[in-house]
Amino acid sequence: MGALEVGQCWLDVADVFAAGVKRVLLYGPPGTGKTYAGLRLAVTGVAERLVCTEDLTSGEITGTWMPVGNGRWEWREGPAIRAWHHNEVGGRLVIDEVDRASGDALSTLLAVTDTQESARWRNPETGAWVRPGPEFSVVMTTNVEDLHYLPSALRDRFPVAIRIDRPHPSALLTLSEDLRAPAMSASLAEEARRLSLRQFYAFDTLRSSLGSERAASLVFGPEAQSGVLDALAIGSL
Ligand SMILES: Nc1ncnc2c1ncn2[C@@H]1O[C@H](COP(=O)(O)OP(=O)(O)O)[C@@H](O)[C@H]1O
Ligand SMILES: [Mg+2]
Repeated sequence: MGALEVGQCWLDVADVFAAGVKRVLLYGPPGTGKTYAGLRLAVTGVAERLVCTEDLTSGEITGTWMPVGNGRWEWREGPAIRAWHHNEVGGRLVIDEVDRASGDALSTLLAVTDTQESARWRNPETGAWVRPGPEFSVVMTTNVEDLHYLPSALRDRFPVAIRIDRPHPSALLTLSEDLRAPAMSASLAEEARRLSLRQFYAFDTLRSSLGSERAASLVFGPEAQSGVLDALAIGSL
């Protein structure tokens, strides 16, 4: 397969979205474009994003009461419910680093990602029961390699899981041409030697003002620096 070919994983992602699948789990090494894909691919309207941490609360998912002055409180919908209702039909919810969700937040995620037929939630302000719109879709992402580390109930909400093993070709195209092939191969390396797209973006920016050597030492560090500079020198021959 040529260095910049799209890769089966991204073809799978495109086909799954095109087929109308509304619950997709993207997993694998960081920095390949999983979140970007969740926010951009097959999205109608606006995508809402949730980043899971150990401290994520249920209120940050479905909404919280906010003080609005004079002792009054108003209900502010959280990203999941906004995505349920976006444009009346539902939009995209991206749930990042989903392996970190726990406790209350996890049960709330289970509730908001349930199938369209089963999911419902009661608005505490109006008392009304609401459901996700028909176009509501969820992309979950995680850097874990073994899906057994995900809570099984959450895993089960997402029958389609695609391991993303290479950067999206459009992501590589935003790099200067000479960096594309090295960035692709460095991001496919085993974990200890892997370099991320973000590092190459930073290198690309820095080298124009600081020169390649200094930029490489700042971004890639002493161990990886010479490997990258060698790859660039070979590419330019
Ligand atoms: N298709 C794309 N086009 C342009 N830039 C992209 C694309 N996919 C990813 N990127 C960029 O590459 C970097 C890593 O992408 P990200 O989605 O955060 O990776 P991941 O979620 O897999 O860790 C980000 O800076 C992002 O903006
Ligand atoms: Mg991500």
